[in-house]
Amino acid sequence: RTVYVNGDYLPENEAKVSIFDRSFLFADGVYEVTSVLDGKLIDFNGHMTRLARSLSELGFTYKADIDELLEIHRELVKRNDITEGLVYLQISRGSAGDRDFAIKDDTPATVVLFTQSKSLIKSPLAERGQKILTYPDVRWRRSDIKTVQLLYASLLKTEAAAKGADDAWMVLDGYVTEGSSNNAYIVTQDNVIVTRQLSNDILHGITRKAVLKCAEELQLKVEERLFTVDEVYAAKEAFSTSASAFVCPVAEVDGKKIGDGTPGPIAKRLREIYIEANR
Ligand code: PDD
Repeated sequence: RTVYVNGDYLPENEAKVSIFDRSFLFADGVYEVTSVLDGKLIDFNGHMTRLARSLSELGFTYKADIDELLEIHRELVKRNDITEGLVYLQISRGSAGDRDFAIKDDTPATVVLFTQSKSLIKSPLAERGQKILTYPDVRWRRSDIKTVQLLYASLLKTEAAAKGADDAWMVLDGYVTEGSSNNAYIVTQDNVIVTRQLSNDILHGITRKAVLKCAEELQLKVEERLFTVDEVYAAKEAFSTSASAFVCPVAEVDGKKIGDGTPGPIAKRLREIYIEANR
Protein backbone atom coordinates (compact mmCIF):
# COMPACT_ATOMS: atom_id res chain seq x y z
CA ARG A 1 0.00 0.00 0.00
CA THR A 2 1.15 3.52 -0.76
CA VAL A 3 0.60 5.99 2.08
CA TYR A 4 1.20 9.73 2.43
CA VAL A 5 3.31 11.41 5.11
CA ASN A 6 4.16 15.13 5.09
CA GLY A 7 4.46 15.65 1.36
CA ASP A 8 5.73 12.18 0.40
CA TYR A 9 4.05 9.15 -1.11
CA LEU A 10 5.76 6.07 0.35
CA PRO A 11 5.31 2.32 0.74
CA GLU A 12 3.61 1.86 4.14
CA ASN A 13 6.65 0.17 5.71
CA GLU A 14 8.83 3.20 4.91
CA ALA A 15 6.51 5.81 6.43
CA LYS A 16 7.88 7.34 9.64
CA VAL A 17 6.62 9.73 12.33
CA SER A 18 8.65 11.01 15.31
CA ILE A 19 8.19 9.31 18.70
CA PHE A 20 7.81 12.87 20.06
CA ASP A 21 4.83 13.52 17.82
CA ARG A 22 2.06 14.98 19.97
CA SER A 23 -0.56 12.64 18.52
CA PHE A 24 1.52 9.73 19.84
CA LEU A 25 2.23 11.27 23.28
CA PHE A 26 -0.96 13.30 23.95
CA ALA A 27 -3.52 12.13 21.36
CA ASP A 28 -3.13 15.69 20.09
CA GLY A 29 -4.44 15.08 16.62
CA VAL A 30 -7.63 15.17 14.60
CA TYR A 31 -8.82 12.90 11.82
CA GLU A 32 -11.39 12.27 9.14
CA VAL A 33 -12.56 9.10 7.45
CA THR A 34 -14.02 9.60 3.98
CA SER A 35 -15.65 6.71 2.16
CA VAL A 36 -14.98 5.77 -1.44
CA LEU A 37 -17.67 4.28 -3.67
CA ASP A 38 -16.98 3.38 -7.30
CA GLY A 39 -13.60 5.10 -6.85
CA LYS A 40 -15.27 8.40 -5.88
CA LEU A 41 -15.04 10.22 -2.55
CA ILE A 42 -18.34 10.67 -0.70
CA ASP A 43 -19.07 14.05 0.94
CA PHE A 44 -15.43 15.15 0.75
CA ASN A 45 -16.28 18.83 1.33
CA GLY A 46 -18.37 18.00 4.40
CA HIS A 47 -15.47 16.07 5.91
CA MET A 48 -13.06 18.92 5.20
CA THR A 49 -15.40 21.51 6.71
CA ARG A 50 -15.57 19.42 9.88
CA LEU A 51 -11.78 18.96 9.83
CA ALA A 52 -11.32 22.73 9.68
CA ARG A 53 -13.67 23.09 12.64
CA SER A 54 -11.83 20.43 14.70
CA LEU A 55 -8.51 22.18 13.96
CA SER A 56 -9.86 25.56 14.92
CA GLU A 57 -11.56 24.32 18.14
CA LEU A 58 -8.17 22.94 19.26
CA GLY A 59 -6.27 26.08 18.21
CA PHE A 60 -4.07 24.39 15.60
CA THR A 61 -1.99 26.86 13.60
CA TYR A 62 -2.08 24.39 10.68
CA LYS A 63 -4.75 25.40 8.20
CA ALA A 64 -6.12 22.73 5.91
CA ASP A 65 -5.58 23.40 2.20
CA ILE A 66 -8.71 21.67 0.90
CA ASP A 67 -7.59 21.55 -2.76
CA GLU A 68 -4.26 20.02 -1.82
CA LEU A 69 -5.93 17.46 0.47
CA LEU A 70 -8.40 16.56 -2.29
CA GLU A 71 -5.49 15.96 -4.64
CA ILE A 72 -3.79 13.67 -2.09
CA HIS A 73 -7.02 11.76 -1.42
CA ARG A 74 -7.53 11.20 -5.15
CA GLU A 75 -3.91 10.24 -5.73
CA LEU A 76 -4.01 7.59 -2.97
CA VAL A 77 -7.31 6.19 -4.24
CA LYS A 78 -5.73 5.90 -7.68
CA ARG A 79 -2.36 4.49 -6.58
CA ASN A 80 -3.98 1.89 -4.34
CA ASP A 81 -6.73 1.11 -6.82
CA ILE A 82 -9.54 1.64 -4.31
CA THR A 83 -13.00 1.17 -5.79
CA GLU A 84 -14.78 0.66 -2.45
CA GLY A 85 -13.23 1.61 0.86
CA LEU A 86 -12.00 4.47 2.99
CA VAL A 87 -9.41 7.22 3.09
CA TYR A 88 -8.07 8.00 6.56
CA LEU A 89 -6.58 11.46 7.15
CA GLN A 90 -4.86 12.46 10.37
CA ILE A 91 -3.44 15.85 11.25
CA SER A 92 -1.30 15.86 14.36
CA ARG A 93 -0.09 19.05 16.00
CA GLY A 94 3.39 17.68 15.34
CA SER A 95 6.41 17.65 17.56
CA ALA A 96 8.49 20.24 19.37
CA GLY A 97 11.28 17.64 19.68
CA ASP A 98 10.56 16.68 23.28
CA ARG A 99 7.67 15.79 25.58
CA ASP A 100 5.99 18.92 26.88
CA PHE A 101 2.39 19.30 28.09
CA ALA A 102 2.34 22.95 27.10
CA ILE A 103 1.70 23.44 23.40
CA LYS A 104 4.16 25.44 21.33
CA ASP A 105 2.28 26.82 18.39
CA ASP A 106 5.14 26.91 15.92
CA THR A 107 5.43 23.11 15.57
CA PRO A 108 4.79 21.95 11.98
CA ALA A 109 1.79 19.63 11.78
CA THR A 110 2.18 15.98 10.82
CA VAL A 111 -0.11 15.05 7.94
CA VAL A 112 -0.76 11.35 7.35
CA LEU A 113 -3.14 9.68 4.92
CA PHE A 114 -3.76 6.06 4.04
CA THR A 115 -6.44 4.05 2.30
CA GLN A 116 -8.33 0.92 3.31
CA SER A 117 -10.09 -1.28 0.83
CA LYS A 118 -13.46 -2.31 2.31
CA SER A 119 -16.71 -3.71 1.02
CA LEU A 120 -19.25 -1.03 1.97
CA ILE A 121 -22.37 -1.84 -0.02
CA LYS A 122 -22.41 -5.55 0.66
CA SER A 123 -22.53 -5.83 4.45
CA PRO A 124 -23.51 -8.98 6.34
CA LEU A 125 -23.87 -6.81 9.46
CA ALA A 126 -26.37 -4.50 7.76
CA GLU A 127 -28.26 -7.52 6.45
CA ARG A 128 -28.72 -9.20 9.82
CA GLY A 129 -28.83 -6.06 12.00
CA GLN A 130 -26.39 -5.09 14.75
CA LYS A 131 -26.46 -6.30 18.33
CA ILE A 132 -25.79 -3.30 20.56
CA LEU A 133 -24.90 -3.05 24.25
CA THR A 134 -25.25 0.23 26.16
CA TYR A 135 -22.51 1.69 28.34
CA PRO A 136 -22.02 4.96 30.22
CA ASP A 137 -20.52 7.77 28.16
CA VAL A 138 -17.46 8.83 30.18
CA ARG A 139 -15.62 10.55 27.33
CA TRP A 140 -14.45 14.16 27.71
CA ARG A 141 -17.29 16.53 27.00
CA ARG A 142 -16.05 17.66 23.58
CA SER A 143 -17.12 14.66 21.53
CA ASP A 144 -17.95 17.12 18.73
CA ILE A 145 -14.22 17.44 17.99
CA LYS A 146 -12.95 14.50 15.95
CA THR A 147 -9.76 13.78 17.91
CA VAL A 148 -7.70 10.59 17.80
CA GLN A 149 -8.41 10.16 21.51
CA LEU A 150 -10.37 6.97 20.82
CA LEU A 151 -9.31 4.65 23.63
CA TYR A 152 -12.69 4.55 25.40
CA ALA A 153 -14.55 3.82 22.17
CA SER A 154 -12.01 1.14 21.36
CA LEU A 155 -12.35 -0.50 24.81
CA LEU A 156 -16.16 -0.44 24.56
CA LYS A 157 -16.21 -2.00 21.13
CA THR A 158 -13.82 -4.71 22.35
CA GLU A 159 -15.93 -5.40 25.43
CA ALA A 160 -19.13 -5.51 23.36
CA ALA A 161 -17.47 -8.01 21.01
CA ALA A 162 -16.31 -10.15 23.95
CA LYS A 163 -19.97 -10.34 25.01
CA GLY A 164 -21.11 -11.42 21.56
CA ALA A 165 -22.38 -7.99 20.46
CA ASP A 166 -21.33 -5.84 17.49
CA ASP A 167 -21.07 -2.37 18.97
CA ALA A 168 -21.68 -0.12 21.96
CA TRP A 169 -24.05 2.84 22.32
CA MET A 170 -23.13 5.36 24.99
CA VAL A 171 -25.49 6.90 27.52
CA LEU A 172 -25.09 10.23 29.30
CA ASP A 173 -27.45 11.23 32.14
CA GLY A 174 -29.94 8.59 30.98
CA TYR A 175 -29.92 9.66 27.31
CA VAL A 176 -28.18 7.98 24.38
CA THR A 177 -25.37 10.07 22.93
CA GLU A 178 -23.99 8.00 20.03
CA GLY A 179 -22.32 4.74 19.04
CA SER A 180 -18.62 4.01 19.51
CA SER A 181 -17.94 5.31 15.98
CA ASN A 182 -21.34 6.26 14.59
CA ASN A 183 -24.47 8.31 15.29
CA ALA A 184 -27.49 6.58 16.85
CA TYR A 185 -31.18 6.65 15.86
CA ILE A 186 -34.48 5.09 16.76
CA VAL A 187 -37.78 4.95 14.88
CA THR A 188 -40.75 5.30 17.24
CA GLN A 189 -43.92 3.19 17.02
CA ASP A 190 -45.53 6.07 15.10
CA ASN A 191 -42.68 6.14 12.55
CA VAL A 192 -40.79 9.20 13.79
CA ILE A 193 -37.01 9.04 13.31
CA VAL A 194 -35.37 10.30 16.49
CA THR A 195 -31.69 11.19 16.88
CA ARG A 196 -29.90 13.29 19.45
CA GLN A 197 -29.62 17.01 18.60
CA LEU A 198 -26.19 18.43 17.74
CA SER A 199 -24.16 19.66 20.71
CA ASN A 200 -20.70 19.17 22.22
CA ASP A 201 -21.83 15.68 23.30
CA ILE A 202 -21.78 14.01 19.88
CA LEU A 203 -19.83 14.08 16.67
CA HIS A 204 -21.65 16.07 14.01
CA GLY A 205 -21.79 13.18 11.57
CA ILE A 206 -21.41 13.90 7.89
CA THR A 207 -23.49 10.80 7.12
CA ARG A 208 -26.04 11.96 9.72
CA LYS A 209 -26.58 15.19 7.82
CA ALA A 210 -26.92 13.39 4.47
CA VAL A 211 -29.27 10.72 5.85
CA LEU A 212 -31.52 13.28 7.57
CA LYS A 213 -31.79 15.02 4.20
CA CYS A 214 -32.76 11.69 2.57
CA ALA A 215 -35.39 11.19 5.30
CA GLU A 216 -36.80 14.64 4.62
CA GLU A 217 -36.99 13.92 0.90
CA LEU A 218 -38.90 10.72 1.69
CA GLN A 219 -41.22 12.90 3.83
CA LEU A 220 -40.40 10.90 6.93
CA LYS A 221 -40.82 12.68 10.24
CA VAL A 222 -37.55 13.50 12.05
CA GLU A 223 -37.07 14.76 15.60
CA GLU A 224 -33.64 15.87 16.78
CA ARG A 225 -33.90 15.46 20.54
CA LEU A 226 -32.73 13.48 23.55
CA PHE A 227 -33.95 9.89 23.83
CA THR A 228 -33.63 7.39 26.66
CA VAL A 229 -32.51 3.76 26.68
CA ASP A 230 -36.12 2.79 27.53
CA GLU A 231 -37.27 4.54 24.36
CA VAL A 232 -34.70 2.47 22.48
CA TYR A 233 -36.08 -0.78 23.96
CA ALA A 234 -39.63 0.30 22.98
CA ALA A 235 -38.67 1.48 19.48
CA LYS A 236 -39.99 0.00 16.26
CA GLU A 237 -36.53 0.24 14.65
CA ALA A 238 -33.05 1.46 15.42
CA PHE A 239 -30.00 2.14 13.27
CA SER A 240 -26.67 3.92 13.17
CA THR A 241 -24.87 6.02 10.55
CA SER A 242 -21.21 6.58 9.71
CA ALA A 243 -18.93 7.04 6.73
CA SER A 244 -17.62 3.51 7.22
CA ALA A 245 -20.96 1.67 7.55
CA PHE A 246 -23.46 4.08 5.90
CA VAL A 247 -26.90 3.33 7.42
CA CYS A 248 -26.63 0.17 9.53
CA PRO A 249 -29.79 -1.33 11.06
CA VAL A 250 -29.92 -2.50 14.69
CA ALA A 251 -31.64 -5.78 15.58
CA GLU A 252 -31.09 -5.99 19.32
CA VAL A 253 -30.11 -3.69 22.20
CA ASP A 254 -29.00 -5.06 25.58
CA GLY A 255 -30.39 -8.47 24.60
CA LYS A 256 -33.85 -7.04 23.78
CA LYS A 257 -35.19 -7.33 20.26
CA ILE A 258 -35.95 -4.06 18.51
CA GLY A 259 -39.20 -4.53 16.58
CA ASP A 260 -39.14 -8.12 15.37
CA GLY A 261 -35.37 -8.33 15.79
CA THR A 262 -34.54 -7.89 12.12
CA PRO A 263 -33.59 -4.75 10.12
CA GLY A 264 -36.62 -2.46 9.90
CA PRO A 265 -38.12 -1.10 6.65
CA ILE A 266 -37.23 2.55 7.30
CA ALA A 267 -33.58 1.78 8.10
CA LYS A 268 -33.35 -0.48 5.04
CA ARG A 269 -34.94 2.15 2.80
CA LEU A 270 -32.63 4.88 4.10
CA ARG A 271 -29.62 2.66 3.49
CA GLU A 272 -30.72 2.04 -0.13
CA ILE A 273 -31.51 5.69 -0.80
CA TYR A 274 -28.21 6.85 0.71
CA ILE A 275 -26.22 4.40 -1.44
CA GLU A 276 -28.21 5.33 -4.57
CA ALA A 277 -27.63 9.02 -3.91
CA ASN A 278 -23.87 8.45 -3.79
CA ARG A 279 -23.26 6.48 -6.93
N1 PDD B 1 -16.30 7.49 12.90
N2 PDD B 1 -19.74 9.42 16.09
C1 PDD B 1 -18.49 9.00 16.32
C2 PDD B 1 -18.00 8.92 17.72
C3 PDD B 1 -17.65 8.67 15.23
O1 PDD B 1 -16.39 8.26 15.46
C4 PDD B 1 -18.16 8.74 13.90
C5 PDD B 1 -17.33 8.41 12.69
C6 PDD B 1 -19.50 9.17 13.72
C7 PDD B 1 -20.13 9.28 12.36
O2 PDD B 1 -19.62 10.38 11.64
P1 PDD B 1 -19.54 10.35 10.05
O3 PDD B 1 -20.92 10.10 9.57
O4 PDD B 1 -19.07 11.71 9.71
O5 PDD B 1 -18.59 9.26 9.66
C8 PDD B 1 -20.25 9.51 14.84
C9 PDD B 1 -15.40 7.16 11.82
C10 PDD B 1 -16.07 6.51 10.66
C11 PDD B 1 -14.24 6.34 12.38
O6 PDD B 1 -13.80 6.70 13.47
O7 PDD B 1 -13.78 5.39 11.74
